[in-house]
Amino acid sequence: MSHEIPSIQWNDLSKTEKYQSVHLHWNALIDKDVDDIANLANAAALLKDVFGWWWVGFYRIMKEELVLGPFQGPVACTRIGKGKGVCGTSWLESRTIVVPNVDEFPGHIACSSQSKSEIVVPIYHQSGEVWGVLDVDSEYLNHFDQTDQIELEKFCRSLEIILS
Ligand code: SME
Repeated sequence: MSHEIPSIQWNDLSKTEKYQSVHLHWNALIDKDVDDIANLANAAALLKDVFGWWWVGFYRIMKEELVLGPFQGPVACTRIGKGKGVCGTSWLESRTIVVPNVDEFPGHIACSSQSKSEIVVPIYHQSGEVWGVLDVDSEYLNHFDQTDQIELEKFCRSLEIILS
């Protein structure tokens, strides 16, 4: 199935309008007949396309650590331990973490010196166990707020439905 994202000047839209577009396109993009990688790759590409964030991608729990999954942006560290960095802390504490300034987060793992702020949202199995995380980095300080948290959590809930 193909689904073309119309060429839109995303910068002309408000943050709320961008998230509305993301949810709309995501519902059309989801393909229940392919594996997780295909859907997660499109999810990362959609978010990167609409918001232009520095880095957006997924880490999956494999053998008791987070392993890099589909992403858009510069190369990133491949493995993160439970409780390590923002991603590992989000997994350990099973909660979204908004970091206004990465230099002030103890143990932050710097994959890129360009990254200044970050949001990490846990993704769950249907059982309620953490499956992995969505990680988004910005090259600007204080880039993520409560709207991002609410909307990205909503986005992750819609992802969980198709994860194996
Ligand atoms: N900063 C993250 C590591 C992943 S990269 O940002 C892509 C962390 O502290 O967990």
